[in-house]
Formats: sequence, structure tokens, C-alpha cells
Amino acid sequence: MKENIAKEGFNSKIGAIAAAAGSAVGLGNVWRFPYVLGQNGGAAFLLVYVLFMLLIALPVLMSEFSIGRKAGLPVLGAFQTLAPGKKWYLIGFAGVLCAFVILFYYNIVSGWTLMYAYLSATGQLASLDESQINQTFEQSSQDPVTCIFWMVLMLGATGFVVARGVEKGIEQYSKILMPILLILIIVVCIRSLTLDGASDGISFLLSPDFSKLTPRALFEALGQAFFSLSIGMGTMTTYGSYISKKQNLPQAALSVALLDFFIAFLCGLMIFPCAFAFGINPGQGAGLVFVTLPNIFNKMAMGQIFSVVFFLLLVVAALTSSISLLEVVVTFVKSQFGLKRRMSTLVSSITIGILGIGCAVSPTLFDFFDKISANVLLPLGAFFIVLFIPLRLGKKAVREEMEANGTPFKLFNVYYFLTKYIVPLAILLIFTNSILSWMGYGLFD
Ligand code: PHE
Repeated sequence: MKENIAKEGFNSKIGAIAAAAGSAVGLGNVWRFPYVLGQNGGAAFLLVYVLFMLLIALPVLMSEFSIGRKAGLPVLGAFQTLAPGKKWYLIGFAGVLCAFVILFYYNIVSGWTLMYAYLSATGQLASLDESQINQTFEQSSQDPVTCIFWMVLMLGATGFVVARGVEKGIEQYSKILMPILLILIIVVCIRSLTLDGASDGISFLLSPDFSKLTPRALFEALGQAFFSLSIGMGTMTTYGSYISKKQNLPQAALSVALLDFFIAFLCGLMIFPCAFAFGINPGQGAGLVFVTLPNIFNKMAMGQIFSVVFFLLLVVAALTSSISLLEVVVTFVKSQFGLKRRMSTLVSSITIGILGIGCAVSPTLFDFFDKISANVLLPLGAFFIVLFIPLRLGKKAVREEMEANGTPFKLFNVYYFLTKYIVPLAILLIFTNSILSWMGYGLFD
């Protein structure tokens, strides 16, 4: 089975890792990271985020890769094979639920991205001042018909690719297109950093004010780290099963995490200097990227072309992530209800679309699904995934898997300690603390 999957999709050595990176890098980096960071006080949040990435998210990613590659099967099968007759496979079910919930609102944001490509192409964003740019976002994002129209287009495109099982083709394109997006992000960053008044944005991002570190900020940093790396729901376990035994697994996980962080950080550097230069509130929420970016493009030579290309590439980044999410749901529906791939894509997409309409009509619902999936479902999933390592797989087996290519993993003991104690404890503590703080007993308020 594994051989087939490997042959079908990932002939090149780095194919599986590029695909994992494609799932990780998406709207989570460009849209979600700046908005959550902006709402949680900037630099201090960034520092916590880096710590959580290294000490919590990276061990989870390594664990998911190891479980997947050891079993050689996608997430459900992986847990069923490695722990036959036990309840661990429920992690796979929870992952399906989570993918489903994320898709309700992810497609709306993808839709906004496509809409912005269209608005720039038709010149509707050029020469607007900052308040008109703000108005454009407010009007369009609060108009259900507009939101639903663009959401359905993106959902349709995702469904089309998944139904035909051609996601590997998309991955081939995205290997060329994603580096171009990265270059564009760097160029936009430079323009943003050289705007008059950019320095306040730079200090917002880089000089920490620890009084802003509320329990909520910790909770959100943890959720964002999981969301951005696509961990805690088994997607990366599945990608792990595609990674060849010849690959250095810890290094693969480290590269995906570093790339993902680097892109998120660059997006911070792109958004905040401009937001401050134009007097945009950094804590305004989910619209932040959309009310900030057009201002930078308007200050660039050939800004309109730049803007169209930028948003289109962002659509591709969103697509590779939403394909990896829909694939999880479709595979599940297919196997549970015995449907053909096309039928199960249709059923899944229609259900997601209907709930997506709910999110398009109600910002409260949008926010609820966004927060519950990233901050609650993913950390809970990750909690059980890391527990699987000491409780079921065992130290020796994980070590063998991580070193299967013959290269010793020097930091294995650090990894194992983090996975067995620190990660589960940290998740529990951060959860308890935020629940207490909601109830009015915050430990670190
Ligand atoms: N990591 C993706 C992003 O940054 C979102 C995602 C989450 C994809 C979980 C798959 C699974 O956009």
C-alpha cells in the first residue's frame, strides 16, 4: 500500500516533504498569524510563539511523522495497525471532525483572497485611500451574497481537484509557485519596511511588552502554532506515511517548521509596519491583512500587477491547504459510507458549503469555528498523539523510526523528554489556565 502511494505521487526525494510544507504554509501564515498576533499584543506573543513552536509543536510534528511512516498508512489505518483493537484510532476520527470544522471558515477566507485578486485586476483597489480600503473590506465581508459567491468558487475548485484525485498535480505546480510567492512576500516586506512611519510597526513586532501576555495570549499562541503546522489532527501523520525511509525524519520536521515560521514572521514584517504607517488598528481581527496589503500595493511601482499576482499566488497556497483538509474528510466519507470518490466529495463539499454559509452570514459563528478548531480541537488532538508515543509505541521503536535512514538523532533524548512530559503538561496547563481565567480565576492575569 505504502509503496503504491509513494510511487503514485512522490517520485522525487523531497516530494512528500514539499507536500507537507504545502499543507503547512497557507492562510494560517499570511492571514491568521498577523491577525492573532495583532490581537495579542505583538512582540511578547511572538516570543511565546517561537518557544511553543520549538518546544511543543516541533515534537508533535516529529511524532506525527514517525507514527505515519512507521505504519506506512494514513492516520486512521496508522493507529489501527500500531494499536490493534484499541481506541487510539479515535484520534483519526477527531481529526476528520477538525478538518471538517476548519473548512467551514477556511473557504471563506480563501474566497476573500480570490475576491481581492479580482478587485485588483479590475482596478477597484488602486488609488483608494486607507479609509476607502477599509470600507471595501467591511462592505464585502459583511455582504453574505458576496462572501458566499467567492466561497463557493473556492470550495468548488478544491472539490474539483479532490474529486479527480489530482492533488499531486497541484503539488507539482505549487513547488514552482510557492517560491515565487515567497519572493513576492519579501519584496512587499521591503516596501512596507521603508514606508514613512514604519518604525512603530517594527517595534510592535520586535520589542516585547510582557504585560500584554494574558492567559488568552498563551492559549492563542499554542493554537496558532498547531494550526499553522497542520498538526493535531493527523494530516501530518498521513504525510509521514509518504516520506521515504531514506529521509532523515527529524530534519524533515525541522525544515517544515522553520519554513513555516519564517514565512509567518515575514508576513508579520509585511503587515505591521504598514498597519502603523497608515494608522490601521493592529488588533482589529480577521480583516487585518485585507485592509493593510492594498495600501502597500498602492505605494508600489506597478502595484496593481503586483497585487493581482500576489493574491493569486495566495489563492494557490490556500488551495494546497484546503485540498489537504478536504482530502481527510472525503477519504473518511468514502470508507465509512462506501461511496465512490466523486460522490463522497460532492456530499462532503455540499455539507461544508451549507455550514460555510452560516459562517458567511454570522461573524460570531465564523469566529467560533476559527477559535474552537485551532485553540481547542488541535491541541487536544496533539495531546493524545504525543501520549501515544510513550504509552503505546515505546521509546525504542520511535528512536528506530527516527533513525531509520542510518543517521543518529543526537537530540533524541530531548525530543523524548519533551514529548513524554513537557508537551502534554504544557497543553493541560495552558488549557486549565485559560478556563480558569474565563471563570475569573486567571493564574497569570
Ligand atoms: N496549516 C494550514 C495553514 O496554515 C491550515 C491547515 C490546518 C491545513 C490543519 C491542514 C490541517 O493555512
